[in-house]
Amino acid sequence: MEKKNLDWENIGFGYIKTDKRFVANYKNGAWDNGVLTEDDKVVISECAGVLQYAQTCFEGLKAYTTENGQIVMFRPDMNAARMARSCKRLEMPVFPEEKFVDAVAQTVRANMAWVPPFGSGATLYIRPYMFGSSQVIGVKPADEYQFRVFTTPVGPYFKGGAKPLTIKVSDFDRAAPNGTGHIKAGANYAMSLHAIVTAHEEGFAENMYLDAATRTKVEETGGANFLFVTKDGKVVTPKSNSILPSITRRSLMYVAKEYLGLEVEEREVFIDEVKDFAECGLCGTAAVISPVGKVVHHGEEIAFPSGMEKMGDTIQKLYDTLTGIQMGKIEAPKGWIYTIEEV
Ligand code: PLP
Ligand code: COI
Repeated sequence: MEKKNLDWENIGFGYIKTDKRFVANYKNGAWDNGVLTEDDKVVISECAGVLQYAQTCFEGLKAYTTENGQIVMFRPDMNAARMARSCKRLEMPVFPEEKFVDAVAQTVRANMAWVPPFGSGATLYIRPYMFGSSQVIGVKPADEYQFRVFTTPVGPYFKGGAKPLTIKVSDFDRAAPNGTGHIKAGANYAMSLHAIVTAHEEGFAENMYLDAATRTKVEETGGANFLFVTKDGKVVTPKSNSILPSITRRSLMYVAKEYLGLEVEEREVFIDEVKDFAECGLCGTAAVISPVGKVVHHGEEIAFPSGMEKMGDTIQKLYDTLTGIQMGKIEAPKGWIYTIEEV
């Protein structure tokens, strides 16, 4: 398989159009089989549900080239299940989970030449998404939907790669207690744009959102969950009903316990105790694990002992083990790796 001629080591996290995408339509109560197409344009009514009332949700996962040259995806069944939960919460028709996995596999297979080579630091990001495509003017769900999957090669999500980030505690809320924080609704990201632009203008890489009800507990950032490491080496992650259940975070907690023999804990984490942790990282498909060196809370600087130069030791071990599993260097737990067969 001849690869595209890209400067793989230096691509950022942006959109690069690849050859084929998957498109399926829902009409009269049923999904069609879907097709792969070269057409990257979406044509919908000016009154489509997605345009008027933001009826849309999405997923994000990656394909990797392993050490022995195979192309694999990481836990696509977990994305299928989470997308089904997002659809139900947004009154959208579920795209059947097995068909979801098949659709992402078909899309990767059709874009094999775009999967970055092993060792380049880049990966193929896969974006499945769904939206209400029929006309809606009174507030109600659409009758027709489109499910699509595209791929784009990506490098690191944060500029500077593995350099520790400085983030701020946001004064904006991301998710209400019984809202949509636990699903991947497009609307969650629309409402975070002002907060992220503000944070960037102030020189911060990301926002730490607190729980909207009490503003005392750590939730997550705009696109990743938190992991903390205590001074005695325990891995702690915030528990809340209004954060997105990150597949990376759930995988890392398993890796910490089963591969590294660390103690792990999912519990409420109060902003007042953040100063006591030894290490902090942001985890997600795009973020992988990005170390945090400093959190600024209304002018007060909370600097982690791991510093601003490199990842802390535990976060580094978690990073090495997870990426080792994804790249085929370390044996994966059963069912985590989905191999794309070349045809
Ligand atoms: N939290 C938010 C708000 C996200 O958008 C993402 C990205 O998908 C994550 C967390 C990380 O989730 P995952 O590890 O499943 O990619
Ligand atoms: C992902 O990690 O897949 C996401 O959807 C996060 C987004 C901020 C790129």
